[in-house]
Amino acid sequence: MTALTAVRGMNDILPDLTPRWRDLEAAATGLLAARGYQEIRLPLVERTALFQRSIGEVTDIVEKEMYTFTDRSGDSLSLRPEGTAGCVRAMIENGLLAQEGATQRVWYAGPMFRHERPQKGRYRQFHQIGVEAFGMPGPDVDAEQIVLSARLWETLGLSTVSLQINSLGTPQSRTAYRERLVAYFSQHERSLDEDSQRRLHTNPLRILDSKNAAMANLIAGAPSLPDSLDAASRAHFEGLCGLLDAAGVAYTHNPRLVRGLDYYTHTVFEWITDRLGAQDAVCSGGRYDGLVARLGGRETPAVGFALGMERVVALLEDAGIAPTSLAPDCYLVWAGAGLAPSALQLAEQLRNSSGLRVIQHCGGGSFKAQLRRADRSGARFALILGEQEWAAGNVQVKPLREEQAQSSVPLSDLAQWLAQQGLGAGR
Ligand code: HAM
Repeated sequence: MTALTAVRGMNDILPDLTPRWRDLEAAATGLLAARGYQEIRLPLVERTALFQRSIGEVTDIVEKEMYTFTDRSGDSLSLRPEGTAGCVRAMIENGLLAQEGATQRVWYAGPMFRHERPQKGRYRQFHQIGVEAFGMPGPDVDAEQIVLSARLWETLGLSTVSLQINSLGTPQSRTAYRERLVAYFSQHERSLDEDSQRRLHTNPLRILDSKNAAMANLIAGAPSLPDSLDAASRAHFEGLCGLLDAAGVAYTHNPRLVRGLDYYTHTVFEWITDRLGAQDAVCSGGRYDGLVARLGGRETPAVGFALGMERVVALLEDAGIAPTSLAPDCYLVWAGAGLAPSALQLAEQLRNSSGLRVIQHCGGGSFKAQLRRADRSGARFALILGEQEWAAGNVQVKPLREEQAQSSVPLSDLAQWLAQQGLGAGR
């Protein structure tokens, strides 16, 4: 029989790694709450048409990477490859943008699915924390989100990321730029690689994103996007740069940054790293002013970004940043059938009144076998409860991580004794 393994590119996140994930979630959710962003939970499955109309029909994601299937009712559905489209759909469908001038700040976290070729930092099921703001047209909220992401790296202790920004301008200036690009690349059509020849008439901006070194010179000579921006687009971008300067957030203006999804206008940005091989984008996003209206809502400006959680967690590991320890404080070793209720009660009491992390040994066995488990659990102390100790109102406390003698502590003093070691209430 073939082994039942996980699907290629879809990973288990094992207990030794989850503390890092929780650190990332805790840092992000704290910063988001401090800025008035509220959580939204969205379905993993949406109608395929939603992604075609938002991400774009001729993007890699929609053309090649979606997990699309027909359900038993005959509807074409897809596992979400990203969160923005579903978030906009939910906003419109639930009337959250129905009022003139409505604003919303939301975030979501969860798995996304893209059938890409798996490699380090690139998976078929991966996780994003996504952040979206609706109803605010100016560069102030673009800056708010970029500064928020910069604060997140600082909070996590990550210094191996750097920021690139660019402006795609209004849909009109983007169209004008597209025409200039098509004209330029058409003159050099024979020097284009196969992918770029295909993109020339479908999505020419994506040629600029090509990683093919043989095309680097050709791309370097292409018309520059900033020259095609109209005055309003330029003012928006300069406004953003001014705010980032004032906030002390360093950035590079990369005029070749175009992003792989079609809904962007004006600001686009990417936090990149050189620590994850070919997968350099850790967090990316931008403004998408036309999308709400395109999906049937009222004309609403919007901006957002998403970070790749696997990539951030890999950077935390790479930087050697220790995760917050969730190791147990105590492991309660006990023996004697008559003590079962007392052991249960003692463990509950220590957890409830002193906030201690206590594993109560279950499954029987000798003191020696239980102590081996206590050691393996990572707990700092073993609490040893035998019938004699219990009768005398004492518990033996055995340090498992430090060279210290075992001591007999009265049960009534135990919580305080542990607090003096910096555990529980004293933590
Ligand atoms: P995206 O650039 O496609 O944008 O993805 C955002 C982030 O998700 C990337 O920067 C990367 O860290 C991570 N990511 C993407 N694909 C993979 C993969 N196969 N494996 C691991 N990590 C990956 C979006 O998804 C937009 N919805 C962002 C946005 C929100 N724009 C506006 N609002």
